[in-house]
Amino acid sequence: MRKRILIALLVFLTATTMVFAQGVAEPKAKSNSLEIFSWWTAGGEADGLQAMVDVFNKKYPDIEIINATVAGGAGTNAKAVLATRMQGGNPPDAFQVHAGHELIDTWVVADFMEPITFILEDNGWMDKFPADVIDIISYKGEVYSIPVNIHRSNVMWYSPSLFKKFNLKVPNTIEEFFKVAEVFKANGIPALALGDNESWTETHLLESVILANTGAEKYRSLWQGKVSWNDSQVRKGLSDYAKMMAYTNRDHAALANMDAAGYVAEGKAAMNVMGDWAAGYYYSQGFKQGLDWDWAPAPGTKGNFIMLSDSFGLAKNAPNRDNVIKWLALCASKEGQDAFNPIKGSIPSRIDGDRSKYDAYLNAAMNDFATNAIVPSVAHGAAISEPWLTRINDIMSVFTTELNVDKAMKEFQAASDRYAPKN
Ligand code: GAL
Repeated sequence: MRKRILIALLVFLTATTMVFAQGVAEPKAKSNSLEIFSWWTAGGEADGLQAMVDVFNKKYPDIEIINATVAGGAGTNAKAVLATRMQGGNPPDAFQVHAGHELIDTWVVADFMEPITFILEDNGWMDKFPADVIDIISYKGEVYSIPVNIHRSNVMWYSPSLFKKFNLKVPNTIEEFFKVAEVFKANGIPALALGDNESWTETHLLESVILANTGAEKYRSLWQGKVSWNDSQVRKGLSDYAKMMAYTNRDHAALANMDAAGYVAEGKAAMNVMGDWAAGYYYSQGFKQGLDWDWAPAPGTKGNFIMLSDSFGLAKNAPNRDNVIKWLALCASKEGQDAFNPIKGSIPSRIDGDRSKYDAYLNAAMNDFATNAIVPSVAHGAAISEPWLTRINDIMSVFTTELNVDKAMKEFQAASDRYAPKN
C-alpha cells in the first residue's frame, strides 16, 4: 500500500515537473486548430490574409492557424479542390467563397452550410453592412457568409509615364480607348496588357466592355437571361472585345493576371483592366500611385461599380466549428476588415471602415461604391451560377483566339438559355 502511494507521489511529482519545465522552457503548445482555405497566394492577397491572421493569433494564441492555399486566380483551382473536399465530407474549417450566386447556388441551396446570422446579431452588427450586401449573402432570411471586403472589377490601371511620353489623355470611353491604343501600337507598345493563362481574365475584361456598351440596367438583365445576346449593344460589346485583342501584349497567353498588372507598373504596357487586387499587388511590390501606376474606371464604365465580395462561411460539419465562429466574427469586425483591406486592395464591406487606414485609391473606391450604380461581377461569382460561369470562361478562351463574334454570340445565347434562372 505504502509502495503504491510512493509510486503515485513520484508520478505526480514527475508530471508536475514536466509541465513546469515545459512552461518555462518552451511556449505552450497550441491546443487546437483552424484551417483557413483560400486562393490568396499572390503579393498583397497573401499579405492581407496574414495581417488578419496576426490579429487572430493575438486574440487566440492557443489556436493554431493552418493556412491552406491553392494557387490560381479567381479560385480557378481552389474551387475544384473545395468541391472535392465538401462532397467527400471533409470541409475546411473556414473557406473563401464569393458572395452572391457562387455562395448561394453552389453551397447554400445544396445544404452544405450553416446559417450564421447569429454572429452579426450577437455582435449588434446587422446594420453595419449595406442592405444590398446583406442581401447577396442571405437565403430565406438567414445570412450564410461573412463578407470580408468589396472588390471592384471595372478598373483600368495605366502607366502615367507612357501616357505622358506620348502626350495622351487617359480614355474615358471605348472610342477614346481605341484612339490612344492606335498611338501606342504605332510606337510598338502593347496598349492593353492581358494575362490570360487562365481564361477568367478574359471574362473579367468582357464584363467591363459589355457594361460600357449596355449600361447598368441592361447588363443586369443580360445576366438574368432577360436580354438577347443578339441585342445590338451586347454584340457591340463582343466586337469591341475582339477588336481590343489586336492591341494586347504578344505573350498574353503565358501570363497570369498579376503579371499583366505588373507590365503597366513597369512601363511595358499602357493599360490593364483588372480588379483592384492589382492595387494590392502594387502595394506589395512597392509600386507608387501617380508614379508607376494610376487608375480610372474601365473605359465607358464611369459611374458604375462592378462589385464582388470575398466572404467566409461555415460548412455544416466543419471540424473546428467554435474556432470558425471566432474567425468569422473577426472577418465581420471593423478591426479585422481594417487590418485586411488596406493591404488586399479592397474596401471594407462594413460602412464604418477607418478611412485614414486606406490610401487615395481605396478612398476613391469607397466614394464610388457609395454613389455609383452597383452591378455584380460575372467573373467572380456574384452575378451568375458556377456552371454558367464555367461555360462562359470556356467560350471566352476560344473566342479570344478565333475572334468570331457571331459564333461566340450564339454560344453565349445557348449558355444563357441553359443556365439563366427561369423565373
Ligand atoms: C477574385 C477574388 C480576389 C482575388 C482575385 C484574383 O476572384 O475575389 O480576392 O483573389 O480573384 O485571384
